[in-house]
Amino acid sequence: MPPFDHFDFIAPLYHRLGAYSHLEMMLKCADLPTSGRLLDAGGGTGRVANALRDHAGQVVVADASLGMLRFAASHAGLQPVAAISESLPFPGESFERVIMVDALHHVFHQGDSARELWRVLEPGGKIVIEEPDIRGLGVKLIALAEKLLLMRSHFLAPGQIEKLFEFGKNNIQASDSTAWVVVEK
Ligand SMILES: C[S@@+](CC[C@H](N)C(=O)[O-])C[C@H]1O[C@@H](n2cnc3c(N)ncnc32)[C@H](O)[C@@H]1O
Repeated sequence: MPPFDHFDFIAPLYHRLGAYSHLEMMLKCADLPTSGRLLDAGGGTGRVANALRDHAGQVVVADASLGMLRFAASHAGLQPVAAISESLPFPGESFERVIMVDALHHVFHQGDSARELWRVLEPGGKIVIEEPDIRGLGVKLIALAEKLLLMRSHFLAPGQIEKLFEFGKNNIQASDSTAWVVVEK
């Protein structure tokens, strides 16, 4: 983990962000509801996980930032776990759904994370990666701003994300400035 974590610092602000605006698309891509367990990797304050809480049997939020997780813990029914997505403290095949929203570009070892998300996914399960679509100008400007803030972000185009999960059966959805890569095991 980096010595200075931007997300520890901005967590109180992040917690005040509005509701998750892509709920319908996520429900469709992740094929929810399910009675099984859902992992939100890089789930931060639990903003997305909280919106999905009634759509899965159990919702776990894993994140590298304790500052962000503190807010996830304030939502009833979410299980916060301090962990980096490159090395998850869960047994193999222990989640029916795994999502990562707006976090992959912040992850340092993206290939290792893809392998971990795949490892913890049950056969027949789905991974959904939601990312800002770097092919658009607006997201390119956000990427530039994050570089100036020394956030070490590394945005991938949807096709590059799909390649990280080459072991799965994948498809890409895109709308406005967001892309969803859906991986089936
Ligand atoms: C922009 S926030 C998104 C949070 C949440 N997914 C949402 O959409 O509200 C990115 C999150 O990714 C987390 N993160 C960055 N690198 C990570 C890693 N390697 N493993 C786990 N979490 C990570 C950060 O701590 C932060 O909470």
